[in-house]
Amino acid sequence: MVNHVRFVAPDKNYLMIKDEIDAAYFDVMSKGDLIDRDHLKNFEQNLANFVGTKYAVGLNSGYDALHMSLRAAGIGQGDEVIVPAHTFVATCSAVVNVGAKPVLVDVTPDFNIDVDHIGPAITERTRGIIPVHLSGYMADMPRIMKIAEKHDLAVVEDACQSLGSSIHGKGAGSWGTTGCWSFYPFKILGGYGDGGAITTDDPEIARFARRMRYNGEDRDTGEYCGHGFTCLLDNLQAAFLDVKLRHLPDWIKRRKAIAEMYRDALSDIEDLLLPHYDKPGFDHVYQNYTLRSVQGSEFSDYLKSKGIEVLTQFRKPYYKHAALNLEDKGFPETEALSREVCSLPMNVEITDEEIGYVIDTVKSFYR
Ligand SMILES: Cc1ncc(COP(=O)(O)O)c(C=O)c1O
Repeated sequence: MVNHVRFVAPDKNYLMIKDEIDAAYFDVMSKGDLIDRDHLKNFEQNLANFVGTKYAVGLNSGYDALHMSLRAAGIGQGDEVIVPAHTFVATCSAVVNVGAKPVLVDVTPDFNIDVDHIGPAITERTRGIIPVHLSGYMADMPRIMKIAEKHDLAVVEDACQSLGSSIHGKGAGSWGTTGCWSFYPFKILGGYGDGGAITTDDPEIARFARRMRYNGEDRDTGEYCGHGFTCLLDNLQAAFLDVKLRHLPDWIKRRKAIAEMYRDALSDIEDLLLPHYDKPGFDHVYQNYTLRSVQGSEFSDYLKSKGIEVLTQFRKPYYKHAALNLEDKGFPETEALSREVCSLPMNVEITDEEIGYVIDTVKSFYR
């Protein structure tokens, strides 16, 4: 009988593909190919093909992808960049760390940036927008790209949570100046440690990132082309990620099937707002199944007390953390959803029986 459900189970996931992962490990280790070798190049090519861009450049993390993108776009001191008030803090920190000013705007009930609020936030200093595609569902890129074109702004897509999602078939990470990816272990494509990448169609940006990730060095000539960083995706991680990328289309199907199971069972509960939206052409890949419960922490604490691991990101919005020194202009939707947010277990390792237990437990709370 099920009485404990994990949010994710990387050990079980490993066992599902053990032979392929072990073979990739053996291949890398027996060749001694640790830094900037074929496994990285192959993964980059396959990632670019999957996303629908010309180039992908493997980096250390999603944060590095954001940071590198802003630098590539020439954004720095004195510039402003528009970011959503509801996102992981790294989206905003990358802006601060290049010396620019983040300008926060509220989100809509689908957790993504409220496009109606972007226009009023634009000033003569605005140089970029970072739309975040949260939980596997994309921000409204057709509208955002129109605004960006009109005001000549760089668009850095924070797609860290949305590999495989799309709008009218055009993939997340292929719309903006760059797409930014995180391969943090619990992402839809998770490595066995930190990892990230950018995708882009711009050869200059790809070249800039390739040099800057390797302390500014042009690997063909040995010339230092600027003061860079050490933030290359390890060859070994790339080999593992390449294995997992092959499974991703099937894994996304499974995530969608789980989302439908939750929807079928829970959509009658009035106090729950489930993450199913009606924007035609927007494809949700359910990196997270994040719902809103009117009962907030009472609801999430109940699930935890019944052995169900849930995420409540973020009860305290990042701009309310004093040390970050950000202006809290009051973002009503972000504040409302912060009180209510709860992500149910969503992963490809989970069994139907475990999902049944989650569903029964949610229902028992509302009974
Ligand atoms: C929306 C978003 N942006 C940025 C990041 C940063 O990625 P990383 O943890 O790989 O630096 C993450 C993930 O952690 C994320 O979810």
